[in-house]
Amino acid sequence: MNALGSMVYDSSVTQAGASAGCPLPMQKNFAWARLDGLPCDPATLAATTLTAQEYSFWSQMRAVEKRRNEWLLGRFAAKQAVQALLENAVPPLRPNDIEIVPDPHGRPTVMLHRSAPPLPSISIAHSHGVAIALAVRRSRARVGIDIEKVSARSLDFETIAFSCDERELLKGMPPEQGREWALRMWCAKEAVGKALGKGLSAGLLAFHIVQVDFAGGQVAVQLRDAALRHFPQFSGESFHVYTSREFDFVFSAIIYEQGAVRMRPSRQEILEYLLHKMEDLTQDWDYNDPVRPESKLFTELGFESLDAVVLCTAIQEHYQTPMPFAELLAEIGQQQRDLSINELADFVDTHLSSAVSADATRRVQ
Ligand SMILES: CC(C)(COP(=O)(O)OP(=O)(O)OC[C@H]1O[C@@H](n2cnc3c(N)ncnc32)[C@H](O)[C@@H]1OP(=O)(O)O)[C@@H](O)C(=O)NCCC(=O)NCCS
Repeated sequence: MNALGSMVYDSSVTQAGASAGCPLPMQKNFAWARLDGLPCDPATLAATTLTAQEYSFWSQMRAVEKRRNEWLLGRFAAKQAVQALLENAVPPLRPNDIEIVPDPHGRPTVMLHRSAPPLPSISIAHSHGVAIALAVRRSRARVGIDIEKVSARSLDFETIAFSCDERELLKGMPPEQGREWALRMWCAKEAVGKALGKGLSAGLLAFHIVQVDFAGGQVAVQLRDAALRHFPQFSGESFHVYTSREFDFVFSAIIYEQGAVRMRPSRQEILEYLLHKMEDLTQDWDYNDPVRPESKLFTELGFESLDAVVLCTAIQEHYQTPMPFAELLAEIGQQQRDLSINELADFVDTHLSSAVSADATRRVQ
C-alpha cells in the first residue's frame, strides 16, 4: 500500500451522481471529485501522484504555501475525477498516468500516459482548502465549475460583480439568502468563463445573468460586450449553469456542447432518478419502507396533491422539458386511481422521446 492508501481522509468521488455539493443532474455522463483538504503532507502527495513534468512545475512554483497546496489539491482532485470517469481503462489509470496541462489561457486539459481512451474535458476549482474537479467523457464538451465559501462580504462585492439588472434579481431577499444567491450568481459567471476557456478576462459584466431559477438552482448567463467579441458564435445563447449549496459552500457547474443533440436518458435511468427523488421526498415525512417501482404515490407513499405538483415540477426542471403533467394528474383524478412510480417513469419516457425527436427534426430542417 502506498503512502496515500494507508491514510484516511475526506475525499469523495462521484460518478454521474449528485453528492458532496455536486449540482449537476444525475443523467449526465461525468465524474465529480471533491477533496476537503490534503490527504497527507504535500511532499508525499506530490511525489506519489504527479507526473515528472507536474512535479517539476510544482517544486519550482514561486507562490505562497496556500497557493502551492491548492494547486496540488486541485490536481489530485482532477486526477481522481478522471480515474473515476475512466474506471474501465486498460490498464487501469494511476494518478501519475494522468497529466493535467494548462492551455495558454490557463484552462486545464488532460493528457494520458500509458492508455489511449478518448480524452475527457475537465474543470478545477478550489476555495478555503477544498478542491473540486469535474471530468466529462466528451472531449468537445466545454465544462466549467466553481466553489466559493459563503461569508459576510461587503456590498461592494455586489456592486462590482453585478449590473443593476442583475442586482435587481436579488432585491427583497433576506440578507443571508441574498448572500447565498449573490454567490451562486458569481459562481455561475466563473463556471461559464472557465467553460469557454478564457476565465473572466472579458470583464465581470460581460457575463450577464438573465434569469435565476431560485427553486431549481439554475442560473442563465448570456455573453455581452468583450465576451461576445471573443465568442461571437454564442450571440443570443443562454448558458444554463447548475448551482447548489452544501453547508458553507456554494457550487456551480456547467457542461455545454454547442449543437449537441439532447441526450435521451434510458427508461431505466429515468426510473432510477424517480426512485432516488422519491426517497429524498419521503425522507422528509418519515416513510420507512423501501420505495419500489411498484410503490403508489398517494395510497402508499402518502403524497398529497401539492406534493405531486412539486414532484412534477422537479421532473420537468430536471429534464428541462415541459410535459403534460396537468393532464396526467387530471386524468388520474377523474378516474379516481393511483399512480405507481413505474407508470410515472413510462410517462416521462414517452414525453422525453417526443421532445428528443422534435429536437432532431428541428436540427434537420
Ligand atoms: C480562471 C478564473 C475564473 C479562476 O477563478 P479563481 O476564483 O481565481 O480560482 P478557482 O479556484 O475558481 O479556479 C482556479 C482554476 O481554474 C482553472 N483555470 C484557470 N484559468 C482558466 C481558464 N482560462 N479557463 C478554464 N479554467 C481555468 C485552473 O485549473 C485553476 O486552478 P489551478 O491553477 O490550480 O490549476 C479567474 O482567475 C479568471 O478569470 N482569470 C482570467 C482573468 C483575470 O485574471 N481576471 C480577473 C478577474 S477578477
